[in-house]
Amino acid sequence: TKPLRIALAGLGTVGAGVVRLLEANAALIARRAGRGIEIVAISARDRSKDRGVDLSRFEWVDDTTALAAHPDADVVVELVGGSDGPALTLARATLKAGKGFVTANKAMIAHHGLELARAAESAGAALKFEAAVAGGIPVIKGLREGMAANEIARVYGILNGTCNFILSKMEAEGRDFADVLAEAQALGFAESDPTFDIDGVDAAHKLAILASIAFGTQPAFPQVVANGIRHVIAADIAEAAQLGYRIRLLGVAEDGPHGLFQRVHPHLVPVSHPLAHVTGATNAVVAEGNFVGRLLFQGAGAGDGPTASAVVADLIDIARGEFGPAFAMPADSLGEHQAADSGER
Ligand code: NDP
Ligand code: HSE
Repeated sequence: TKPLRIALAGLGTVGAGVVRLLEANAALIARRAGRGIEIVAISARDRSKDRGVDLSRFEWVDDTTALAAHPDADVVVELVGGSDGPALTLARATLKAGKGFVTANKAMIAHHGLELARAAESAGAALKFEAAVAGGIPVIKGLREGMAANEIARVYGILNGTCNFILSKMEAEGRDFADVLAEAQALGFAESDPTFDIDGVDAAHKLAILASIAFGTQPAFPQVVANGIRHVIAADIAEAAQLGYRIRLLGVAEDGPHGLFQRVHPHLVPVSHPLAHVTGATNAVVAEGNFVGRLLFQGAGAGDGPTASAVVADLIDIARGEFGPAFAMPADSLGEHQAADSGER
């Protein structure tokens, strides 16, 4: 059987992680996928940068968006980031060419997911973005596949590793916000613009994607009300602890009688609740189904290895020919919804 051939756009934290993972687990992946998965072409901004991985055997393409037309590539993996710009150009061109498209880019999927899902369906191509929500945790698979038979009433949780890392370090070590943010950036958890993390925008992107899959509605990022952790100070954390709470940035989506409620903001979580014990760059998502009950998905929400794990899981699905509609049902059947909250962004 022919290998699945990949063109890889973006060689930063996640892109280099994907190169490492495909190499380290090549034989196992080939057995599980039924065929090998091979990188044929790569692209980023700076060809001369040392990325700690051997890239010499891959064809370098200067124009990242040209990867869509690479004659040997079956699938394009986009790990550049940004809701528009080259990532979106590449996504549109790849799907138009009828090739598979895998991304970790929650900003782009939250803003343009409906358009891209329609493009994928009309071309019969795969569009997959497991890594876009909660890093290494297979939460999209969990909702799309594991909970496919359930009506989902509510989905909520810790969706941003950087904020959880900051809050739990401030809590345990009494450190300053800025100092811990710098550490999260150095570890590769933060977005290229870290205000997306600390202002709750990144969690809002992820919540909009989860809500769409959970409730069968079009992704509606502009309607997510988001507040981040910028104004949380050590004294707030100490005060909360005195009262038996920890502060966690939660995203909450609920399909109620008044419409779809989607909010991200810091919550006081009682120490008796499992989410109070989620520390570091870990994410945790709770989803409530009418037959399965309450499920908790927990694990590494950011970082090179965990995120690469989710990207490559999508590639294995495509290699097996296993992919359905990106948001769990055909794009044209996703409902428009009424926001239960007036705070349009
Ligand atoms: P990085 O900033 O580490 O890497 C981005 C890569 O894209 C770099 O290789 C960079 O090139 C390249 N790039 C940037 N701009 C351009 C451009 N205009 N044209 C071509 N290439 C470009 O980001 P991450 O790896 O951290 O994130 C990648 C994606 O994955 C983002 O969408 C992010 O939100 C998402 N994500 C990240 C996670 C994480 O833990 N880091 C977890 C889950 C999702 P160069 O290296 O040459 O500068
Ligand atoms: N910046 C994101 C986070 C990366 O900290 O959660 C994972 O999506």
